[in-house]
Order: sequence, then C-alpha cells, then structure tokens
Amino acid sequence: MKITILSLFPDSFSGFLSGSMIGRAQKKGLAQIENVNLRDFATDSYGSIDDKPYGGGAGMVLRVDILVAALKKYQTPVSKTILLTPQGHPLTQAKVRELAQSEHLVLIAGHYEGFDERIRDYVDLEISIGDYVLTGGELPAAVVTDAVVRLLPGVLGNDDSPIYESFSDGLLEHPHYTRPAEFEGKKVPEILISGNHAEIAKWRTEQSKLRTASRRPDLIK
Ligand code: ADE
Repeated sequence: MKITILSLFPDSFSGFLSGSMIGRAQKKGLAQIENVNLRDFATDSYGSIDDKPYGGGAGMVLRVDILVAALKKYQTPVSKTILLTPQGHPLTQAKVRELAQSEHLVLIAGHYEGFDERIRDYVDLEISIGDYVLTGGELPAAVVTDAVVRLLPGVLGNDDSPIYESFSDGLLEHPHYTRPAEFEGKKVPEILISGNHAEIAKWRTEQSKLRTASRRPDLIK
C-alpha cells in the first residue's frame, strides 16, 4: 500500500516515519509512504500557500488552487483522498479496516484556521480523530497512517494478532499478564497459569465483555 501525506510540515513526520513499526513496514516493502510539502506548490517566490479569508475574520485559509495542484500530481486512478478535519467522519477501527483495503491513500493535513471550502469537492472522504481541535492535521494524518499500516499483512509480528485486539470484535480486549507471577501482593489470575486453553479462552471472552460493559457501555448494542 502507498500513503501520500500532503502537509505544510513534512519534517514533523520524520521520526514517526522512520520509527519502529512504520519504518519496518517500509523497509519490508509492505508500505510506501510519500511525505510531500505543500509549499512546493506555491506559485510565488514567498512560498505562500494561504491567504486572508473573504468576508474578513482572524487567521489564514489554505488556498484551494495550491491543494488541487498537489492532488493533481499525487492522486492516482486507485487512490482514495482523505481530508483530516474535526468535521469529518469519526475514525473507528471499522473505518481503519476499510481504509487498509485501499491500494493508495492521499491524506491532506491542513493547518491554521482551515482550508478553502471548495477543497471538499476534490476529496473522497473526511476524517476526524476525535471531538477536539488540534493545530493541524499532521497528528491526525500520522494517526491514520499508523492505524492503517499496522493492519497490513506482515506488518505485525504475528499475522493474526489484530483479530484478537480491542474493537476487532466490537469489544475491548481482555487483560494481559506476564512474569512475575506475583508482584507487590498482586497475583496473576490462576486460570492463566492452569494450562487449560479452553478455560483460558472462556475467561478472556468473559473479561472482554465485563470490561466493555464497565468502560464502554456505548459499544454494547
Ligand atoms: N485537525 C484539527 N483537529 C482535528 C481532528 N480532531 N481530527 C482531524 N483533523 C483535525
């Protein structure tokens, strides 16, 4: 899969992109990430990509012509273009699974006050990573990239591990334990040391349901 990130601060992705999981996925050839600077599409010598809002008001607005010039260069016949915005569709694991099926995602990370409304006509979908406002779409673009890339076959050590994680079956994941078996008087549940795999599986399913009911009752329909 290929992911193209269009932003004003491509340097802000460098640690993240070379870091463990995403870095490994790229080295293995499972994901190709293209990190594009929108300023490269400025048409004046100042590199300006935004302008004052028509009608007045505070802040600057990202220009539609700049964004569309970048899209024309990077969109492909198979790409899906996503605008990161707090007004978008909330990002869920179901949405992440759907995006992970794409061959090519183009992510647009705006900054400052916002972008020209007309950009909405050039995107396939809008995504929000939560009901709060960040200074730009860079972190949301990184969040989408991380969540999608880790689902690509071969990226995680164990191919079937995403099947058992939180949200994959609509529930939160069961608790995990490792050595030591006792720490400051806190013991690992007996059942996990029993070696009885059927009982362990049953316990994990129950824990998953209990956890979801107490922490995220909204997930239980
Ligand atoms: N840009 C600023 N805040 C955002 C959010 N919560 N989700 C997606 N993009 C954003």
